[in-house]
Amino acid sequence: MSSQDQSFFNVFMVVIGAMVGIAVVLVIVARFVAGNTQLAWVKADPAYAAAVDERTGPVGRVSITGEEPAPAAAPAAGSAGDAAPAADAPAEVAKVRDGEEVYNTACMACHSSGAAGAPKLGDAAAWKARIAQGADILHKHAIEGFQGATGFMPPKGGQVALPDAEVIAAVDFMAAKSR
Ligand code: HEC
Repeated sequence: MSSQDQSFFNVFMVVIGAMVGIAVVLVIVARFVAGNTQLAWVKADPAYAAAVDERTGPVGRVSITGEEPAPAAAPAAGSAGDAAPAADAPAEVAKVRDGEEVYNTACMACHSSGAAGAPKLGDAAAWKARIAQGADILHKHAIEGFQGATGFMPPKGGQVALPDAEVIAAVDFMAAKSR
């Protein structure tokens, strides 16, 4: 290597080194700046938090006769940061829905038509032997799922997020309607 090449190479390395250094500084500055944008304030805004709660909240709300229906836009109690709980907050706490309601949302798909071998609602003949097993077995089969002679009952009808109490209510509703 001639001495000219050598000095070119040295200068070249210095330039590359300086550029790497600048890039690192830019990354650090960018991270710092990105952490201090408006977004932090936007997210802390109660109106924004309420809008997120509204979008991500449960689809349905329970209205009990005699109680004021909860305004649809009200965020669930306690979830909007430290916003003071509204006076009607207790009404917002998830209630166990009644059996008919649960049936209509989670069980009807199979049990109204008899799809996949499901015993039909109101079909006393199909339910007689099942009901005879006792309510505990029916509840267990509905909650944990059950492979029987006519088909497969998925755990909680496939809606694994349902509370056990709601599944039990739906089973009792179905059994009562099918005697
Ligand atoms: C994907 C269809 C499907 C859905 C949805 C479904 N079931 Fe079933 N279910 C079945 C089938 C099929 C059987 C019959 C299994 C057998 O006996 O072979 C059954 C049986 C049952 C039985 C009788 C169990 C027994 O011991 O005989 C109960 C109780 C029951 N389902 C409750 C429910 C409830 C409550 C829901 C809603 C939360 C629900 N099912 C949703 C398909 C379904």
